Amino acid sequence: MIYFDNAATTWPKPASVVRAMDECMNEFAANPGRSAHSHAIKSSEKVYECREEIAEFFGIDNPGNVIFTSNATHSLNIVINGVLNEGDHVICTVMDHNSVLRTTFSKTKKIELSFSKANPDGSLNLTEFESLIKTNTKLVVMTHVSNVCGTVMPAKEVADICKKRNILFLLDASQSAGIVPINITEMGIDYLAAPGHKGLYGPMGTGILVINSKVIPKPLIFGGTGSYSKELSQPFELPDRLESGTLNVPGICGLLEGVRFIKAVGIQQISKHEKELTSWLLDGLEETKNISVVGKKNTVGRTGVVSFVHSSMDCTAVSAYLDSEFAIATRSMYHCAYPSHVALGTKDSGTVRVSFSLFNTIPQVKLLLYALSKI
Ligand SMILES: Cc1ncc(COP(=O)(O)O)c(C=O)c1O
Repeated sequence: MIYFDNAATTWPKPASVVRAMDECMNEFAANPGRSAHSHAIKSSEKVYECREEIAEFFGIDNPGNVIFTSNATHSLNIVINGVLNEGDHVICTVMDHNSVLRTTFSKTKKIELSFSKANPDGSLNLTEFESLIKTNTKLVVMTHVSNVCGTVMPAKEVADICKKRNILFLLDASQSAGIVPINITEMGIDYLAAPGHKGLYGPMGTGILVINSKVIPKPLIFGGTGSYSKELSQPFELPDRLESGTLNVPGICGLLEGVRFIKAVGIQQISKHEKELTSWLLDGLEETKNISVVGKKNTVGRTGVVSFVHSSMDCTAVSAYLDSEFAIATRSMYHCAYPSHVALGTKDSGTVRVSFSLFNTIPQVKLLLYALSKI
């Protein structure tokens, strides 16, 4: 299979990721932070190593502020539910994913919600964004990169505005972690939510929340942490406060190797590779009859998530044809982000989405272009 569905989850994973998970399951997968026998200690050490790698990778000093979750949605839910109180105002953007939109919308009986608009290429207008700020604005949530068209959002500029106005900033790095360089401290991000299973090359069932704020979200889930067992109240210390229940240790062992893999290859090299593939694809799509690219038409200000439409064949049929005739995996329709489609002009059609990883190659892109030319 030629796998171009990496925005949903990356596949294949590096061999070191699969090996680490296998080793954990076969050799020591005991419950970390609970018992004191050697397998439990080994599990705890691996979990801590992964916190350290992630803290360093995203530029924060304290590994304890790295919280393990089960996916990006879980991380986003912790912050959105944990910092907003009745009467607060929150700003999202129309380019956000349903994991932000539905979570904030579910609270609109108690909070006010505004959406920053987008241009037809998926980019934001910072002046319009700033005009939405009110005296009760508590939180801004924004996707770093659109999962529909790959447009990169002005995260640093938005973080600067939030700092000046004393507003908390939650960045959804689902499509950027491991693909676009992120230094949480330098960029002034308060909370970073990311999946472990996309650009960080970990397995499904892993996610992270990195906290760089004194405002610690209230827990979403309460329970056993292996610490302060005599107390009925949830511990205050991170990561325990936000990590009740048994962790996904095999997944975390895989994620650790995924982050090490990215560090070894180098994030600049990863983004250069994806840019090259994107450039081939965009140039080729422009020459393919009946195909129109959605969003930015060149490689400036975007990543390797590319959406397009066919003038006479619907998106689902295009994806089905690519799969059955050429074993090419793409995703079609609305990508869990309908307001993005309204902004991008694809509200009725949806799009066919191609998304790259480090394991994709130029010959694969050429085969896709050939397949599309044969429709
Ligand atoms: C921008 C964006 N945010 C959030 C998510 C949710 O990620 P997860 O499936 O890890 O919860 C996705 C998944 O595709 C996404 O693209």
